[in-house]
Amino acid sequence: MIEIAPSILSADFSRLGEEISTVEKAGASILHVDVMDGRFVPNITVGLPVVKAISRATRLPIDAHLMIVEPGQYAEKFVEAGARMVSIHIEADPNAHRTLSGIRSAGALAGIVINPATPLAALDEAIKFADYVLVMSVNPGFGGQEFIPESLDKVRRLRKMIDERDLKTRIEIDGGINADNIAEVTGAGAEIIVAGSAIFGAPDPAVALRELREATVLWV
Ligand code: DX5
Ligand code: ZN
Repeated sequence: MIEIAPSILSADFSRLGEEISTVEKAGASILHVDVMDGRFVPNITVGLPVVKAISRATRLPIDAHLMIVEPGQYAEKFVEAGARMVSIHIEADPNAHRTLSGIRSAGALAGIVINPATPLAALDEAIKFADYVLVMSVNPGFGGQEFIPESLDKVRRLRKMIDERDLKTRIEIDGGINADNIAEVTGAGAEIIVAGSAIFGAPDPAVALRELREATVLWV
């Protein structure tokens, strides 16, 4: 099933509750929250208190994308704060098995994120311990960047890896997705599609979300 996960990074934070309720009503099924620490990526965003507040304000499952060093220190706390999906960067965690298991035991789905220049080989063992893999199609840190075209082939190769091993791992993609490329990324095998500026940067986020869904349907 293809799901669209609006990323609040491009939302108007002064009206966050309203922005979330708009996309919830327009048919979003997951809410993507970017957590950045100014160390793993050159930007700082939101943390535990905001995830906690959002989880009380929406019925959408929160997908916390942790762009932080030492994610093992915080991953389970994000589950306690209300996230139903928590992902960690493979580049940031030498003990990914422990962190992913901790997320699962705390009651959430565990995801591994892989940066554009990190080879899929880095997932070879770790993929067994994850419920989903998030392929970054931009370098993490900012919304509104351009989709890196090589990501398409990476998604295709990852799809093949998952299918050949008969795993149930879902593929999420994040960065530079819009109505012009969403059909290609879903065609390549991505199922959870993160979109920030394409939704919240549009004059009407509800219309933009519907346009993304319509553009996807062409391929399904
Ligand atoms: C970037 C974040 C993304 C970001 C995507 O580091 O992980 O989730 O919000 O924004 P767009 O869709 O504008 O590329
Ligand atoms: Zn993200």
